[in-house]
Amino acid sequence: MADDILLCRVDDIPDPGSKGFEVDDLEGFLVRRGDTIRAYRDSCPHTGVPLAWAPGNYLDSDDALIQCAFHGALFVIETGECVHGPCVGRSLEPLPIRVEAGAILLDASSLDDIG
Ligand code: FES
Repeated sequence: MADDILLCRVDDIPDPGSKGFEVDDLEGFLVRRGDTIRAYRDSCPHTGVPLAWAPGNYLDSDDALIQCAFHGALFVIETGECVHGPCVGRSLEPLPIRVEAGAILLDASSLDDIG
């Protein structure tokens, strides 16, 4: 589809692992664990800052949860819900992706930032 943007291939992300991306004004990241691939806006619901503690590193030391580097909030990979830290009960903003033949595609049509 015309509004699909290729972010990367599934194999470009470690399993488990994560990877940041930038498309125009949109900063986001991908998380992979097994067959699960999710994309979220790179903005912590606590203060709005990017989450990574180092480029591409969005997971905690056990690779079990997404972690914000600033005040340690932890988020469920599958849902983006914060389960520990200063923004418990709030969630990361999911971004619309799908996987097709090993490629991770972002549906840009529903995103204001990138039209
Ligand atoms: S900015 Fe993310 S936990 Fe405070």
